[in-house]
Amino acid sequence: MKSLVLYSSQSGNTETLAKSVYDSLEGEKELRSIDEIPSHELDHDLLAVGFWLKAGKPDPKTEAFLKACKMNAKVFFLRPMGLPKAPIMPGRPWNTPFAC
Ligand SMILES: Cc1cc2nc3c(=O)[nH]c(=O)nc-3n(C[C@H](O)[C@H](O)[C@H](O)COP(=O)(O)O)c2cc1C
Repeated sequence: MKSLVLYSSQSGNTETLAKSVYDSLEGEKELRSIDEIPSHELDHDLLAVGFWLKAGKPDPKTEAFLKACKMNAKVFFLRPMGLPKAPIMPGRPWNTPFAC
């Protein structure tokens, strides 16, 4: 099983999540920033895509990657969320990253 954890991150939250996912995976694995992708034709069995949300959508680099990507893999997505103090998450600071 060959896995790739790919992330796009401006201020580090998504990178932190991606590293946690990477650490939890077994077998052959790679952790890469979306800026380091050598090709859009990838031969991994599992792809984890970490992105940050911009105006309700994946950030532009991730969106471009997903449109161009050609591979036959199981894919899952992860992203952090920055929220103001909200009743649904009492006591949780707005900038605490967590996986969805
Ligand atoms: C220009 C801009 C637009 C954003 N739009 C959203 C949004 O629509 N929804 C959301 O939940 N977060 C939004 N965010 C918050 C980022 O997704 C959040 O801070 C994220 O943790 C940043 O990830 P990073 O630290 O990996 O760059 C926005 C941030 C920026 C800078």
